[in-house]
Amino acid sequence: MINLLDHLAAALGPGGVIIAPEDIAPFGTDWRGLVSNMPRAVLRPRDTAGVAAALRLCAAAGVPVVPQGGNTSMVAGAVPSRDGAELVLSLSRMNAVRAIDAAGLTMEVEAGVTLRAAQDAARDAGALLPLSIGSEGSAQIGGVISTNAGGNNTLRFGNARDLVLGLEVVLADGTIWNGLRRLRKDNTGYALRQLFAGAEGTLGIVTAAVLRLARAPRQRQTCFCAIPSVEAALDLFARFRDEDEAALYAFEYISGAAMAVNQSYMPDFRLPLETASPHYVLLELATTRRRDPLRETMEAVLADALEAGVITDAAIAESEAQRAAFWAIREHLSESQRRAGASVKNDVSVPVAAVPSLLARAAAMLGARHPGARMVAFGHIGDGNIHLNALQPEDGDAAAFAARGEDLMEDVNAIVMELGGSFSAEHGIGQIKTHAFGQLRSAAEREIMRRIRAALDPAATLNPGKLF
Ligand code: MLT
Ligand code: ZN
Repeated sequence: MINLLDHLAAALGPGGVIIAPEDIAPFGTDWRGLVSNMPRAVLRPRDTAGVAAALRLCAAAGVPVVPQGGNTSMVAGAVPSRDGAELVLSLSRMNAVRAIDAAGLTMEVEAGVTLRAAQDAARDAGALLPLSIGSEGSAQIGGVISTNAGGNNTLRFGNARDLVLGLEVVLADGTIWNGLRRLRKDNTGYALRQLFAGAEGTLGIVTAAVLRLARAPRQRQTCFCAIPSVEAALDLFARFRDEDEAALYAFEYISGAAMAVNQSYMPDFRLPLETASPHYVLLELATTRRRDPLRETMEAVLADALEAGVITDAAIAESEAQRAAFWAIREHLSESQRRAGASVKNDVSVPVAAVPSLLARAAAMLGARHPGARMVAFGHIGDGNIHLNALQPEDGDAAAFAARGEDLMEDVNAIVMELGGSFSAEHGIGQIKTHAFGQLRSAAEREIMRRIRAALDPAATLNPGKLF
């Protein structure tokens, strides 16, 4: 290893290899604090050639490499799976926005650009990068693509994978594939870019991408609603979709229990409505049209819904600052929950119509089998994707609760599978869901993935311990 580190230092230049324990420590612990495995060293290449050189040297030495972007994985997907034996390769220094084609609506970015910086660059060019997640200030494009991130605008624009037009990837042996094309139509064999998106860094390291942009909306209307039931949330969703599906950019659910956690742990929390409710929806309409009566649409649908008892109260954002305050409440849920103690995250999806049944059955199951556990449900209800998170009992023992995490996950997943759902809707597998992946995906499906992996990374040195 010492020899390898010398060669890597020579290949990557000044600041290219970090070995001091205090400096590498942050790279070994995931955002949720579930896994702490220190890397042997952290590699920080400046360019694609550096990534290729590093991977070539590591492959020759048989040393595993863990690609890491913003380290915001919910499933410990970007930290080592063993202590002291792996190298983390950080993409952070590859952070250039290389080009924006505002007319063609594409942008080329390096893997280490944060999602927010990419959004800002698109906005400054008069366009929209239509991907938004809570961790966008830290999450980096390479990780966003490698985990096929979802988030709040999936409903309208799809997941990260749907935004990838071109990709540059370095394989485990150092081979560079430059597929940075910016074509809307390119039907030339296997869709490699789709294969690497969502592969969690097990097939290659994404070093740059061409992303599809959208036209920047000229109007937005954002509304916080109090809702009497989960069924009513779906009723409201159907009403907006029926009125103007293309304008529905986001439709997010927040349970009263999730809001209560926010109330306790979000600094300066302020509910935008008069009174608390058992359920809430945060929704956003947007349009690129100048003369669209978007506000009228919002008000008309809300008025009908109020009359029908589908909502009990609503607040429409009257300024950009108020809109930001609404979204801050939504985006702080994960952080509040993290501060509230140990939790088991069930990032699940079911067909949209089955969401009420999912929540009712999960609540009953938790009450019966995990007494005291608090169900903190929220998420992208318009996609059928609910973060059906369970929080440790108030004043309970965090370690004891965490020890039962696997059981709890299995109990939730049993319900999810009966409803025809998925046990991981957007967070991926990482090292936290490998057990469920082994149990709930068929042998054939896993074998296909294994063969693909073996073809591209026969020694399995890229991000070991993830997925399989
Ligand atoms: C979110 O949508 O805020 C995250 O994906 C959910 C989570 O923290 O479980
Ligand atoms: Zn989410």
